[in-house]
Amino acid sequence: MSHSRSVQTLYIPRVAIIGLGLIGCSWVKALKKSKSVGLVSGFDRNIDSMQQALQAGLIDDYSLQINDVVNDADLIIISVPILAVAEVLGQIKSSISEKTILTDVGSVKGNISKDVSKVLGENFDRFVLGHPIAGSERSGVSAADENLFKRHKIILTPEQRTCERALDLVTDAWKITGGMVELMSVQRHDEVLAATSHLPHLLAYSLVDTLANDHENNDIFNYAAGGFRDFTRIASSSPIMWRDIFVGNKDEVLKALDLFTADLQQLRDVVANEDKTQMMGTFTRAKAARDHFTKILARRAYVDSMTSQIVNYVAKPGGKLSGEFRVPGDKSISHRSIMLGSLAEGTTEITGFLEGEDSLATLQSFRDMGVVIEGPHRGRVTVHGVGLHGLKTPPNALYLGNSGTSMRLLSGLMSAQSFDVEMTGDVSLSKRPMDRVANPLREMGAVIESADKGRPPLKIKGGQPLKGIHYVLPMASAQVKSCLLLAGLYAEGETTVIEPAPTRDHTERMLKGFGYPVDVDGPKVTVRPGGKLTATAIDVPSDISSAAFFMVAASIAKDSDITLQHVGINPTRVGVINILRQMGANIEMLNESEVGGEPVADLRIRSAQLKGIQIPEDQVPLAIDEFPAIFIAAACAEGTTVLTGAEELRVKESDRIQAMVEGMQALGVDAVGTEDGAIINGFGSEGSFNGGEVDSVDDHRIAMSFTIASLRANAPILIKDCANVATSFPGFVELASESGIQVAVENA
Ligand code: S3P
Repeated sequence: MSHSRSVQTLYIPRVAIIGLGLIGCSWVKALKKSKSVGLVSGFDRNIDSMQQALQAGLIDDYSLQINDVVNDADLIIISVPILAVAEVLGQIKSSISEKTILTDVGSVKGNISKDVSKVLGENFDRFVLGHPIAGSERSGVSAADENLFKRHKIILTPEQRTCERALDLVTDAWKITGGMVELMSVQRHDEVLAATSHLPHLLAYSLVDTLANDHENNDIFNYAAGGFRDFTRIASSSPIMWRDIFVGNKDEVLKALDLFTADLQQLRDVVANEDKTQMMGTFTRAKAARDHFTKILARRAYVDSMTSQIVNYVAKPGGKLSGEFRVPGDKSISHRSIMLGSLAEGTTEITGFLEGEDSLATLQSFRDMGVVIEGPHRGRVTVHGVGLHGLKTPPNALYLGNSGTSMRLLSGLMSAQSFDVEMTGDVSLSKRPMDRVANPLREMGAVIESADKGRPPLKIKGGQPLKGIHYVLPMASAQVKSCLLLAGLYAEGETTVIEPAPTRDHTERMLKGFGYPVDVDGPKVTVRPGGKLTATAIDVPSDISSAAFFMVAASIAKDSDITLQHVGINPTRVGVINILRQMGANIEMLNESEVGGEPVADLRIRSAQLKGIQIPEDQVPLAIDEFPAIFIAAACAEGTTVLTGAEELRVKESDRIQAMVEGMQALGVDAVGTEDGAIINGFGSEGSFNGGEVDSVDDHRIAMSFTIASLRANAPILIKDCANVATSFPGFVELASESGIQVAVENA
């Protein structure tokens, strides 16, 4: 929990600091720099430190008598090794007045809380336990740095007895240093720090000691380079401080150490047995986690120059498209390749995998469930399948970011596992309806809890036997269909799904590709349990949904001529081509072939004057993700385009009808939304979009659609909140620029 109190003016007339180490000195230095303190008095067992601190202007006076220093202090900062805190409290107890507030900076909170109770009494309410997550292997007065805490977390662990006045003062005194104050319980703090800080220090000390004692390795330090240096830097930290921490937090440290020792022993066996797959499992999981952590760190450093990480696009008016390109891999197929590859027996090699955040969320989830996955590296992924019954309990909730496909398909799969799972997502995903999958799964016997109105997070109970279902889909949804088919692989008897209109059939095709029988009879798809999936190679075609932006772009920008290579043209996905052609677009299919059960072709698109049409309802499910781009085409067309039967657009990553209509209106287009579609009066060959500002409402496809609108705009368009383009189309801005669209990223 972060502490949101904002600090306006802070002035503490008298501060006493006991223990002139790195942390305490850096804190008073920052307080002095911000002119938030009057007089600072210091005490240390070492007289040299006191003189040095006085000379450096960190303290205004000192005394050899600890009580002289704390007398009349408004705030006492205790920054001594943690096992010395009780003794210090005993010495100063008689000099603590009613107004005095105390705090500490130690790395363990439980034992200091006990010291406070023992010495000052159970009800002493003016001691705020604190711990800045900052530091360095350097120590002492000379290392004091007023910027040490900037953008670092400062954990305060107030207890029931702690009074608000004390908590507020200590919070403000930390905030003034640029630190970010967070509140936590004492127990949780000690548990977390044992794992993230205390254990690594113990290991660093131990490794250096082992190597230094080994005569054979005596000259190891002469040859020790990056690895040794990076791993052991913290073994130069203060031995007394760390001795105290391990005594103070013994129980939690031992728990973390036991867990680590068991894992290390396992890894030893893996190395002894030359078990390459398990090695890759540990290393790829660890690499993904460390890379993620690096990103978190990077973001923190970002705060310096930016107030947020909002990404906007600025698209300049005009331009034409030319060249041959390959857009990234198909998102739907990428998701399924990880899922089915994980459930297969053997090793599946994937090429053309979409390295977008959505499909990476699926990949990470399967890693979390114990599947060894190598890559992605330039679209190559190797999945070491664990079989239909080989997934393991993930350590935490599966975080699925912005990806509805991940959550809906995984719901079916997770309902049939032996373990409990929780699935969470970002703000947009947390608003999307999950009842459409949860309800039929419950009919099959699944036990699923959701948040209000069937929204995520979803908690799925493991070990529930599932029964087959005969389910007529209430809406045309490939996600619901696929979810039930995946559950059906584990359910007793037949699972049949009947769809009201054809939707993308990648799951059915890929199951067959992995050798799992699927009966398809018109709108009826049936699976039975008892089969197995056999690993295979998957070549993911380019995503027609990503290609759609370039199809529309080349159609509306005069004198354009582009070829998009290796685009998936599965008949359940080609609605956008059918609709654009009906509007008069010039789209040619070249080099048609089939890869791994999916048809592909190169698409050549040349500019054309489009005309408005009534969009046939049977094309809607076949173009469901492409309507934002089609709306831009409709705005440039001659005459009116009417879309009906597309109410599903209201529950995508955003309400896409509203987002597109509002954006187009802001750019001067005559468009209105209806319950299940829109009516767009095109401005035709002579017209254009006005420049201006549109909000992508964090939806990747809205952001990309308004980017291509700039080709026919009379002034620049600013498109806000485009960071989510990375969910489906990494490298969009680069590829768009290369093709002739004049777009640039602006970090707001
Ligand atoms: C998808 C199905 C569609 C689509 C989504 C991906 C899939 O959703 O909009 O982007 O991979 O199955 P619905 O099934 O909800 O229409």
